[in-house]
Amino acid sequence: MYNEIDLDKIDLNSEAPTEEPDRQYYYIAKCQKWIREFENTNGRRPCFFTQTFGCQMNARDSEKLTGILEMIGYEKADSEEADFVIYNTCTVRENANNKVWGRLGYLNNYKKQHPQMKIALCGCMMQEEEVIEKLQKSYRFVDLVFGTHNIYKFAELIAASFEQDGMVVDIWKDTDMIVEDLPIERKYSFKSGVNIMFGCNNFCSYCIVPYVRGRERSRKPEDILREIERLAADGVVEVMLLGQNVNSYGKNLEEPVTFAELLREVEKVEGIKRIRFMTSHPKDLSDELIAVMGQSKKICRHLHLPLQSGSSRILKEMNRHYDKEQYLALVDRIRKAVPDIALTTDIIVGFPGETEEDFLETMDVVKQVGYDSAFTFVYSKRTGTPAARKEDQIPENVVKDRFDRLLKEVQSGAAKRAEALTGNVEEVLVEEINRQEESLVTGRLSNNFIVHFKGTSDLIGKIVKVKLQVCKGFYFYGELAK
Ligand code: 5AD
Ligand code: SF4
Repeated sequence: MYNEIDLDKIDLNSEAPTEEPDRQYYYIAKCQKWIREFENTNGRRPCFFTQTFGCQMNARDSEKLTGILEMIGYEKADSEEADFVIYNTCTVRENANNKVWGRLGYLNNYKKQHPQMKIALCGCMMQEEEVIEKLQKSYRFVDLVFGTHNIYKFAELIAASFEQDGMVVDIWKDTDMIVEDLPIERKYSFKSGVNIMFGCNNFCSYCIVPYVRGRERSRKPEDILREIERLAADGVVEVMLLGQNVNSYGKNLEEPVTFAELLREVEKVEGIKRIRFMTSHPKDLSDELIAVMGQSKKICRHLHLPLQSGSSRILKEMNRHYDKEQYLALVDRIRKAVPDIALTTDIIVGFPGETEEDFLETMDVVKQVGYDSAFTFVYSKRTGTPAARKEDQIPENVVKDRFDRLLKEVQSGAAKRAEALTGNVEEVLVEEINRQEESLVTGRLSNNFIVHFKGTSDLIGKIVKVKLQVCKGFYFYGELAK
């Protein structure tokens, strides 16, 4: 295991090993030497700053980046005015890219005054050819660029950027490599994401993810369980199993395993009290999984089930492989098996060709299901996806009007669902001191609602009973139950 590795014993005069993860530990040891030199010259350790854009997968990847940087010897900084800045990018919608371009302008100015600083970019946006071309042409001040497939090589890439002048670019189109046992620095001591699979095979017609994250690859159940057991031994009580489409977990392993079977095994890990997972594609959600959720004491009462559209016609155009009726029937089966479950979703408004009738079908599903919360998105045209080539793109003002109506419906439905919980005493995992009011702590219910209540930092990481007193729409104020 990585915290048992003695980096001082690595012989840096010999060639780098070819096996992983040994090769990366060799480069970590190599980078440590430069860090010591920096410290001798400057009288302090160099510092780093990571900025994560996008989803939970990226958040988990950033913990891996942080783990490696800290093992090398960098110290965490709280702003971009640092010696090493890395942006872990997202490209699911155009505005995610725009944010990165904007911030790079700012970084360029800072680097002009601090030429020794290093700027690195990684993640989904870097898997797009046009992005790399633009960086190479107009953003020469960036030192290191890599994508989603070779993040495990981070130490080796940092070493390369110390050794050579100019921009180091290493982008892979795809991989079936999964490297285990590299350092990870968790953001929270008591909860953790756990990757169970990488990539996506679904090719929803609007989505760029399969192009930038590659084909589906599942980690072996024994590796996942070993990681969770170690997390539990380290004080973690809640795990979030992560994958682009967790319901198709394990299908292409040498010895296939279903997601439901994996969950049964995770349930047995002592010390783990809550299990979450993200994201479920409705087309692959099995009755076996519903049964496991119904029986489980640890799986949280929350399911994120992206709808995308309520119109069967648009769903077909989106290549989602279910229609409105199938989705609603699935929701019925889930609610029968797990009556107190909270359902959340993702919805896209303004997919090419979406008519008012199609949109009203979406509104109808929202009303019928009664989501506890929903992420609503304006359709964003992603170059290279089939939907981007469609001619009937929807005018901005029409999309905006539909978006506003949808948001109102979602919010009023969610507020009603939350209101119905007021007065209940619920188990809450305390996550942090409230960001606005220091005398309060913030915790999360099994169904993913948030509650703020009077408490101190010693409660963080504990599961306590809280009475939900006041409902504020999508969160509560409460008090510790006696
Ligand atoms: N435009 C808008 N939203 C998108 N999503 C994915 N691709 C696009 C796009 N091109 C949304 C989907 C998905 C969520 C992660 O992002 O709703 O579930
Ligand atoms: Fe994108 Fe569809 Fe894969 Fe989700 S399931 S990542 S929306 S292609």
